[in-house]
Parts: sequence; structure tokens; C-alpha cells
Amino acid sequence: MTAFITTPIFYANGAPHLGHAYSGILADILHRYALVRGQDCRLITGTDEHGQKIAKAAAVANEEVQSFVDGKSAVFQSLWPSLGIDVSQFIRTTEPQHQAHVKRVWEKLAAQGDIQLGSYGGLYCVGCEQYYVERDLVDGNCPVHLTPAQQVEEETYLFDLEKYRARLLTYYQQNPGVITPHHFQASIMSQLEKPLEPLSISRFQHCWGVEVPDNQTHTIYVWIDALFSYLTAIEKEGNTAEALENTTHVIGKDILQFHAVYWPIFLLALGLPLPKRLLVHGWWTINGHKISKSIPETTVHPSSFAQALSEDGLRYALVRQKPAHRDGNLSLDELSEVINADLANNFANLVKRNNTLILKYFSGRLPAYSRAALDESTKVLFDSANSTLRAVEEAYQNGDVYQVTLFLRRLTDDLNNYFHHRAPWLIHKTLSADHVAQTCAVIAHFVQLLARCYYPITPRLAIRVLKEFGVSLEGEISMPSHIEPVEIGTADSHFERIFASKHAEIS
Ligand code: MSP
Repeated sequence: MTAFITTPIFYANGAPHLGHAYSGILADILHRYALVRGQDCRLITGTDEHGQKIAKAAAVANEEVQSFVDGKSAVFQSLWPSLGIDVSQFIRTTEPQHQAHVKRVWEKLAAQGDIQLGSYGGLYCVGCEQYYVERDLVDGNCPVHLTPAQQVEEETYLFDLEKYRARLLTYYQQNPGVITPHHFQASIMSQLEKPLEPLSISRFQHCWGVEVPDNQTHTIYVWIDALFSYLTAIEKEGNTAEALENTTHVIGKDILQFHAVYWPIFLLALGLPLPKRLLVHGWWTINGHKISKSIPETTVHPSSFAQALSEDGLRYALVRQKPAHRDGNLSLDELSEVINADLANNFANLVKRNNTLILKYFSGRLPAYSRAALDESTKVLFDSANSTLRAVEEAYQNGDVYQVTLFLRRLTDDLNNYFHHRAPWLIHKTLSADHVAQTCAVIAHFVQLLARCYYPITPRLAIRVLKEFGVSLEGEISMPSHIEPVEIGTADSHFERIFASKHAEIS
């Protein structure tokens, strides 16, 4: 069955920032990993184009709403390739096929008695497109946007969440690994121990949205519209809703409630399978403030960062700098330091030095070695490197890309230590040719496997290295019994150091 990885669909009310890019990069890494492991996998992203927030932004820009969202959506579509994000399906909520889908969903839920007309009053944040209760606000402000929530009291359709609460709780009890990291699942489960209030699922006379069937004075709540875009996209890819079972949603922690409570409840109500996994990430901040369109001082344009740090560098540094679920303060200097240390000095430099020796002393060719033919200290490295590679695979399978980068760093450190200890450049002095050949062969072997592991994160760098060795991307990652022969014709530099201070004015 086809697997799907999704990013959230992004509000088409402004330019993408680095926080959005982070969701996209994480999803792309998991997508690339699945592809090289031979899985049939697609990456879905898109834009969220309805609702009061969007209508307000278009009014401020003095533009007709559809042409406003066309423009914003196009910016997102052109950003992804510049960050190496390879999108399979870009879904827009203003597409007719999607709007028809959302109406069908509504009709089914209404027909089975899950929706009632009533009224709802509360504190609404237009930025989040959600109601808050008093205790969640910070000095009367929305905790995400830090802007005042508005008191709203209006006629609305209500969805009976309580009807499905116990089933969802049982599902989470029986499937402890759905939400990663687990503490998010624990907090959702404790919320599900208590009754759920009906959810307001339409807005009265906020006309930029999908109309409620049979009542044109209401539009369908933008979050229902947005969540079902995942399913519209899956269907556009030629799959049925069953594929949800094989779907991983990458989301920020601010939208957990929608994905971990409302979305699965709607799916339960419709008799559809629940998604396989929710991977929850934290925020990038600037001086402690979440990077956000509503706080202009925090604006960070992903393309200027990608220019300063290189596409691979930006992707690597963002996932290497912090465990995905934590928040992290963004510093260009820190990002460039880790890129230079890990990619340029530690990895690419080792590849170049080793390949230079292979060219110089062995005309670019080294024989195969079985594990048994290796000397003792090389066997020790060989076994420990294979076990680190297995740990890399496991971390990828758990969707823990930060952990992947730690293991990759550990392995490049081990290889560098071994290389320096064995000093193969002393070939003409004290060392036997076999000692040197073995050293260079084992390094060549592991840098190729490392390149395959780096590929989902730094595709350009990995492809360059593998091309030099003339091997394919898709091969094995750990080979515990032998080392393949080597044949190279060049020893190029595959990654240049970054001098980000040249771009210090970036914002
Ligand atoms: N449109 C909704 C999602 C609907 S999905 C069915 C939305 N859009 S958003 O544009 O506001 O945010 C999209 C994603 O970007 C969310 O996962 C959010 O967490 C992420 N980020 C937005 N700012 C962020 C940071 N500063 N740091 C990291 N990610 C952040 O919510």
C-alpha cells in the first residue's frame, strides 16, 4: 500500500517563514528515506486558503481574496524545490474537488445526526482560527500569537465530540505509539478522560469558505476544511481513504489538538481508518519568540537562509540543532558552525583525504575484503560502525531525525579517529601496503554507507559522494560481512565551508 507523509497545509495569508520550512524539511527527509528503502511513498503539502484570517489579510492587501490566495499559494509552491523538498501532491483548499469533498463529509455527518444547529460563545483567536477558554490565555492574549482573543457569540453548528471520546481514548490506549514523542499522546489521553464539549464547526456570515450544504449563511469551520485536504490529496494520488492507515502527519505542537482529537474523531464518525502516526515538532524562536508572520521582527525567509547556508546545510543544521519536539532559538552563527564542523570538516574532508590517497597510491582501485581478512583494530571499527549504522536505520524508522544526525556524527568521528590513528599517508615510511590499503578500503566503504544515510537530509552532498564511487543510492546501509571493492577516478571536494557572516544582514 502507498505510504503518505504530510506537512500541515500552510495558511495562504503571507510569505513562508523558517518555521514552515522546518515542517516541510522534516517531512521531506522521511519521504526520501522511505523512497530509498524501496517503499512506495508520497509527500503531500499544500495551502489552507479559507477562513476569516485569510479574508482579513486579503482585505488589508486590498486584493480580491481568490487572487490573493493564488499569489500566496504560488510562493509556497515555488519555495519547496529551493529547499530540496520534493513534493508529490500540492493541495489547495480552494480547489473545486476539495470543496465538493468537504461538502460530502458534512452531509454524511449531518445525516447521521452528529451535527446540530445551536450557538457558541467564547474567546476566538483569528490567527489560530480557534476558540480558547479563559485559562488558556496569557493576560487575555492568545498563547501562540500574543494578540487579544475576541469575545464571539454566534449561531453555529455544533459537532458532538463526546459521542466518540471513549472510542478514541481506547484507540490510544491500545496503540501507544501513535503520537511521537509519547508525552504528547499521554497529555491527549488524559484530556480524553474528561467529557468533551461540542465543537463549533461553522462560522456565521463569514463568507470566505465552503458553504454549509442547505444553509448559505454559514461556512464550514476552516479546520474541518483543512484537515480533510489530507484525504482529498490522497484521493488525487489515486488512493482510497484506507491509505490513512499508512499516513504519517508531521505537525507543529500548536496544532496537536486538531490532529490528535478532532481529526481522528471525524474519521471515527465517518467509519474511516485513523492515521498511522503523528510526529510532533516544537518551534523555532528568535530571541525567545516563536517565528511567526504576526510578529514581523521574527520574520526569517527560508530562501535567504538556504542561500547563506546552502540548501543541504540549512536542512542539516535545522534537524541537527535540536530534538524535533523541543523549541530552539535560531542563530545563523550556530547553524553555520555545526554545518562546517559536521559536513565540511568531519565528513566531506575525510572523503577527500581518503580518496586522494586511493588515487595516489592505488590508482583509484582497492580490492574487496571479507570481515575475516581484516586486521584486529580494523575489525573493531568495522563491527562498531555496522552497529551504529543499524542504530541510524532504527532512528529513521522511528522518525527521530535528530537522533539520526547524532549517530551520523558519532560514526564520522569514529572513522576520523581510526584514520588518524592508522596514518595511511605514512605509506612510504613504516607501514605495509596492506595496512594502508585496508585503512583506505574500510574508510571508503563506510563513507559510502554514510552518504546513503545522509541522503535524506543532505541529498546533494550524498549524491556527489556516491557518484564519485559510482554506486547507487538505493543499496544496503549496513553490510556486516564484507567490504566491497573500490574504483574511483577523482577525489573532489564535495562540500565547501560556509561563511555565514557574509550574510549577517539576513532577516
Ligand atoms: N493551516 C494550519 C494547518 C492545517 S493542517 C490541516 C496551520 N498553518 S500554519 O501556516 O500556521 O502553520 C503550519 C505549520 O508550521 C504548523 O505545523 C506550525 O507548527 C508550523 N510552524 C509555524 N511557525 C513555526 C515555528 N516558528 N517553528 C516551527 N514550526 C512552526 O497551522
